Amino acid sequence: MSQHPQDERFVELVHLVKAYPNPHGDPINVVEDVNLKIRKGEVISIIGHSGCGKSTVLTMVAGLNPITSGGIVVDNREITGPGPDRAVVFQSPCLLPWMTAYQNVMLGVQNVYPHATKQERKEIVEYYLHLVGLGESMHKYPRELSNGMQQRVGIARAVALQPKVLLLDEPFGMLDSLTRMELQQILLGLLDKTQATAMMVTHDVDEALLVADRVVMMTTGPRANIGEIVETPFARPRDRDAVLEHPDFYPLRGRLIQFLEDEGHRRDAAAAKARSERDGQTVSAVEEEQVVGVEEVAEASAEAAPMPTTPLGETLDQVHSEQHVSS
Ligand SMILES: Nc1ncnc2c1ncn2[C@@H]1O[C@H](COP(=O)(O)OP(=O)(O)O)[C@@H](O)[C@H]1O
Ligand SMILES: [Mg+2]
Repeated sequence: MSQHPQDERFVELVHLVKAYPNPHGDPINVVEDVNLKIRKGEVISIIGHSGCGKSTVLTMVAGLNPITSGGIVVDNREITGPGPDRAVVFQSPCLLPWMTAYQNVMLGVQNVYPHATKQERKEIVEYYLHLVGLGESMHKYPRELSNGMQQRVGIARAVALQPKVLLLDEPFGMLDSLTRMELQQILLGLLDKTQATAMMVTHDVDEALLVADRVVMMTTGPRANIGEIVETPFARPRDRDAVLEHPDFYPLRGRLIQFLEDEGHRRDAAAAKARSERDGQTVSAVEEEQVVGVEEVAEASAEAAPMPTTPLGETLDQVHSEQHVSS
């Protein structure tokens, strides 16, 4: 595990705030006062309802989204923008269509290892493409690869940069459940091999538990921050079957689901209260600002958010009713 005290706070989010303008142009703090320390080599997953600010936090760490206030420190350095020390995997890998898988990965490797020899770079690219299971397909073009294989290229491209922090934003969200399970296993293998420090956003509670050392649960916005954090007791190298058989898996899963449900109820109640107050014309200017924020998030979540799903595609409702049945 960590050897230096510094490694205990390898990544640190300090009083992190992000404000976006509401439809009236007034700033609303979408996330407010997020504080988190991540150990070197630790894998964190972030769950929360759609629209709560998970991607906002991740893109701030990536340096792609300006921070309103607070700060982010990676390996003792405050970040001020994007950099090769932080690689991001999004839902869709956005490969360059005129380049093969190999060339897509090489593109980043050339930038990050300018002093490596041609042979060394070739070995790096091939190594990571093999690790994601694309040894046989590395000279294919994106159009010749399935979505799952394209996402493997995206993952190889990120990990080949040997970033200090690997950032993943719902990386398997677009994949069917079988492909998702395959890629989860590949990610687990990569994390074990590279000992990477990683943050992964997901709305899948099983995936959150499977991958992470700690699951960070975000409250519903606006002014979202960290509600609860749970540690997972699953050994590494990690394997799905061992995790599912672990006696703590289902209790932890229940706790995550309960948190999400409680937050969902809280959000709905806040939106209903805000609406009735506004209809009664009893709100002050300050409250009006909050009302707009809460309603926006509630509406955005209602539209955009499928219920968090398990790898088998069950909805939370089903899972919950099953739990009632079985308990
Ligand atoms: N560029 C933007 N301008 C205004 N509001 C935004 C912008 N990006 C995101 N938001 C709002 O911020 C909130 C958090 O968004 P996001 O971080 O994408 O949520 P999540 O990833 O948890 O689904 C949402 O209410 C969203 O509508
Ligand atoms: Mg998101």
